[in-house]
Amino acid sequence: MGSDTGWVLVYEGFDPAKQGLRESLCALGNGVFVTRAAAEESRADGTHYPGTYLAGGYNRLATEVAGKTIVNEDLVNFPNWLPLTFRPARGDWFDLAQVDVLNYRLELDMKRAVLTRHIRVRDRSGRETSVSSRRLVHMGDPHLAAIDYRITPQNWSGRVEVLSELDGAVVNGGVARYRDLASRHLEAVDAGEHGDGEIWLLVRTTQSRVEMGLAARTRAYRGTEGGGERADEDRRVVREPGRIGLELAFEAGEGETVSVEKIVSIHTSRDAAITEAALESREAVERCGRFEELLRSHETAWVPLWRQCDVQIEAPGQDQLALILRLHTFHTLQTLSLNTLGRDVGIPARGWHGEAYRGHVFWDEVFIYPFFNARYPALTRSLLLYRHRRLPWARQLAEREGYKGAMFPWQSGSNGQEETQVIHLNPKDNTWGPDLSRRQRHVNIAIAYNVWQHWVTSGDLDFLSRYGAEMILEIARFLGSLATLNGITGRFEILGVMGPDEYHEKYPDSEEPGLRNNAYTNVMAVWVIQRALEILEFLGPTRVSEISESIGLSSDEVDRWQDITRKMTVPFHGEGVISQFEGYDRLKEFDWKAARARHGNITRLDRILKAEGDSPDGYKLAKQADVLMLFYLLSLDDLEPLFAGLGYTFDADVLRRTVDYYLPRTSHGSTLSKVVHASVLDRSDPTRAWDLFNEALQADFADVQGGTTPEGIHLGAMVGTLDIVLRHFAGVDAAGDSIGFSPRLPQPIRSLRLRVRHRGRWYGLKVTRDRVVVELEPGPGGPVRVRVLGEESTLEPGGHCERELPG
Ligand code: BGC
Repeated sequence: MGSDTGWVLVYEGFDPAKQGLRESLCALGNGVFVTRAAAEESRADGTHYPGTYLAGGYNRLATEVAGKTIVNEDLVNFPNWLPLTFRPARGDWFDLAQVDVLNYRLELDMKRAVLTRHIRVRDRSGRETSVSSRRLVHMGDPHLAAIDYRITPQNWSGRVEVLSELDGAVVNGGVARYRDLASRHLEAVDAGEHGDGEIWLLVRTTQSRVEMGLAARTRAYRGTEGGGERADEDRRVVREPGRIGLELAFEAGEGETVSVEKIVSIHTSRDAAITEAALESREAVERCGRFEELLRSHETAWVPLWRQCDVQIEAPGQDQLALILRLHTFHTLQTLSLNTLGRDVGIPARGWHGEAYRGHVFWDEVFIYPFFNARYPALTRSLLLYRHRRLPWARQLAEREGYKGAMFPWQSGSNGQEETQVIHLNPKDNTWGPDLSRRQRHVNIAIAYNVWQHWVTSGDLDFLSRYGAEMILEIARFLGSLATLNGITGRFEILGVMGPDEYHEKYPDSEEPGLRNNAYTNVMAVWVIQRALEILEFLGPTRVSEISESIGLSSDEVDRWQDITRKMTVPFHGEGVISQFEGYDRLKEFDWKAARARHGNITRLDRILKAEGDSPDGYKLAKQADVLMLFYLLSLDDLEPLFAGLGYTFDADVLRRTVDYYLPRTSHGSTLSKVVHASVLDRSDPTRAWDLFNEALQADFADVQGGTTPEGIHLGAMVGTLDIVLRHFAGVDAAGDSIGFSPRLPQPIRSLRLRVRHRGRWYGLKVTRDRVVVELEPGPGGPVRVRVLGEESTLEPGGHCERELPG
């Protein structure tokens, strides 16, 4: 594996053990659908796993497990549009497992968003053939994808047969842990041929009844670079249940290259401005151009995305840094792009790259929104509306549990009901156990935080007034009703919840789910309620009374909120360390050394301990940052007055002691954890922070969890690393009417360039070790005030401001 000037990810050689990882990391998408980088000629066979996922394309299925019927909503593996294979007349269809692989090189060119594969193989009869394929998923027209598959007989000549299929007979089989669960989400509706040997397929999801119509135009041409005459003859349609294919043939001379182009169109019943999915797709492949034409328009669509989102980083000796950051930007934009705008889609924790976590939407959004706030706030708005539309379900969830307001689910999918499973499989010992993770009510805090951040960075009062205020107020109502007054302490408490550290689900000696007074939840609940109060203050009496009336918010409730902001419990222990939850300090110390010696990789301590009949509940350990999330989301300046209002002392010393206490007790079992720690330590311990940042970069690139990335990327960790570059290294502060830049490059970085948008204007930032230059891009609008290293300056469009950095 190597890199080509930081833009091309290259894998030399075919390695079956790494195939799943490469399929995720080289997946192609456009914010509407993503297709894994499975080989064209492959099927799901334990090594290869072709998968195409539609943004927000879910379906529910019931399964009998351990005597119970459980229903899961999954991100559906939609028809495989890739299948393209060949054979010499009377030979076997090309199958990597049946030939000698003489050469194999996979290249992901991120700048052009093109996946290329060069292979040379020898079959059992000694025939050597080269195949060079290029693939794209069109960024400009999100209904198109294309393959150019060039076949060159190297030491033979003769008739070559090609089979090109649309395969709807696929199931969800990408995650081994889910294989006992029902997996057939698609039913075939119709298929046929049309035009000049074009084929089409219409499928429907079994329960959600989402239709997908695909059409493919497959043609062979002699010669390369888009020229050449048609070579295909003897076209024949082949049908099998759920699949349709086109066979064609051509004569190829020794050393002659014939290019097979497969142009595919995909529409679904969720698309706007269509009549029927299959018809739209048929018409689209009829009218669209050749591969080279599509390639050009596809590349053109990526140009502004890279100009606006690329991070150019120079760090001598750190070859992978620029490449991995690009890979993270690349997958972020493939998961959620401007094509996603206006679609009813949330932010999936694992991209649309695989089936892990079923494509569900968690709190991971909190790590992802900053990226979009600083580039495409309209996309943030669109994504937040996914949550707003699901307020009715969130209200029902709150009501069912006896709360007020809106309680968003821990895992959200199609309609916003709780999608978290009730039991889950421990792959360590193959047993099913209860899943209490839905007790992570803090997902609501993340949603309110995201709405607020969107408001302070974009200044979009229309969004706040029409949607955001309602969400924050409803979440504040929920959190307010979750808090109960303790008659003895005279303080409010939140009971029965889990914090972000999923290793603690309950007290070790108790059957009751959840914990008492998770500090993160309690403090952030106060923060959310304060924002709700702030909204009531400034939104104006008319709008406030309209919203209050529509949600039934009473003045008594608001008085109680005031009280909560003065009397919420925050547990402490020792010499002023914030306790993760009440009683954390009474848990047993965990023997990390012994566990590491016994198990090696101990990131998933929950599975290890449970398989041993033990449980992490009893120990002072954490899967990921929990209390420390407070310092990730809020600054010392935010937290000091909040704690003071509650009557607690909080200062830089408490912060330092708290960080020092939890860091060695964290196993980083979630890829989010290192992002948080790298950010939190950035000021106090830059060396350790830099190490953690680098470890966070490896999460997917090296699949550090040993098998999770093949099941889907970790979008939160990917974007989290980009956010560290933005907020820490570049020191961008976009919260407020003017934007600020206070860069601080870690020692190994020589220079950094990026662009950000604030209030509709684009800024270019260039930082070297001794200098920072901020430029306002030319364009409409007058001069703006910016803060550079804390000093105010005025920038004219096209103008720049340069400052020396302190040594
Ligand atoms: C983490 C959660 C996260 C989820 C989805 C879990 O492993 O503990 O914090 O929301 O993955 O990414």
